[in-house]
Amino acid sequence: MKILTVVGARPQFIKAAAVSNIIRKEFDEVLIHTGQHYDENMSKVFFDELNIPKPDYNLGVGSGNHGKQTGTMLIELEEIYLKEKPDMVLVYGDTNSTLAGALAASKLLIPVAHVEAGLRSFDMNMPEEQNRILTDHISKILFPPTKTAVENLNNEGIKDNVHNVGDVMFDAVINFKKLSTEKSNIINILNLEDKEYILTTIHRAENTNDINRLKNIIEALNESDRKIVLPLHPRTKKYVEDYGLKFGDNIKLIEPVGYLDMISLEMHSQKIVTDSGGVQKEAFFMKKPCITMRDETEWVETVENGWNVVVGTDKSKILKSIVDFVPDKPQEDIFGNGKAGEKILNILRQRI
Ligand code: UD1
Ligand code: UDP
Repeated sequence: MKILTVVGARPQFIKAAAVSNIIRKEFDEVLIHTGQHYDENMSKVFFDELNIPKPDYNLGVGSGNHGKQTGTMLIELEEIYLKEKPDMVLVYGDTNSTLAGALAASKLLIPVAHVEAGLRSFDMNMPEEQNRILTDHISKILFPPTKTAVENLNNEGIKDNVHNVGDVMFDAVINFKKLSTEKSNIINILNLEDKEYILTTIHRAENTNDINRLKNIIEALNESDRKIVLPLHPRTKKYVEDYGLKFGDNIKLIEPVGYLDMISLEMHSQKIVTDSGGVQKEAFFMKKPCITMRDETEWVETVENGWNVVVGTDKSKILKSIVDFVPDKPQEDIFGNGKAGEKILNILRQRI
């Protein structure tokens, strides 16, 4: 069986790192990088560090408006699908690369497998929500990572070929934690002490496109009495510059880091403040209190279990939770057993 996998953005490289080498044990995989993310520290570093197979194609699509970016991918992907004639297309998550990968396949009647299916924020203004819903409804095999994700699919009438395999990002953390401890020197380089800092990431469209939300977030971080380490996403950097916003002296602003450094920064942090989907989960895996600067989350189990608090972009709520928020319950088993990649392989094998 020939599987064609489409990736394009940072979190998809990390997800592919947990799956590609496993499915290659039994199937032919052709890997396509759309080029949605292209800076060395948003793309190449992950392939180098995580032993992800080199992409067979890089479409070099780059940044742009949603229509142009997704449309360009569609045109290029269709040509490759027609040439490669895959038996299945595998996509991850909810980016424009996910939607383009799935839609190009679906139109050619090539079955689509969607890893991280069924997540919902119930906010159709989010580009990710549009991408997820559309992708799930044209997928033939769905790999939701949580019970809630299965329920979301069932509620939309998607009941066949739905397999809760757990979360591939849990596999990734388990697989790469040791390597991170051995190889990453970021804590020394940044002169940080264990648990002395808050790790923050910001990149969500709704938090960066809207000057008031971004201003609130940055003011809250600036007014915090804690040291804050902030690897700045290129999207956020651009908006911060455009809006003329300034970071305070308590904020250690750094370039986006590779995954091994990121895991190390997470492991040694006191708390994590983020609007990222992946980082919310990693906070849970690392047993760190997570403060989510969004109005809702797809990862509702982490909130119900008491390890994540959703605070929006209200300055006082962010500041208060940085000081006060402490989980008071033992963690429940939410994301499976770290063998999602193997489970995906088993299910794909049964398809033959
Ligand atoms: C995308 C995904 C989002 C995901 C995020 C992961 C969509 C609609 N959004 O958001 O779901 O959470 O990736 O990080 O697919 N840029 C660079 N260099 C790069 C990449 C981006 O400078 O290598 C800058 C460009 O100014 C670009 C902006 O970041 O316009 C946004 O990039 P884009 O890929 O469109 O969306 P993300 O915000 O990264
Ligand atoms: N990440 C990273 N370096 C960084 C910031 C994030 O390696 O500087 C990793 C993080 O550990 C997680 C993934 O990128 O595995 C999350 O991606 P992102 O926040 O860009 O997107 P989302 O998960 O919100 O779609």
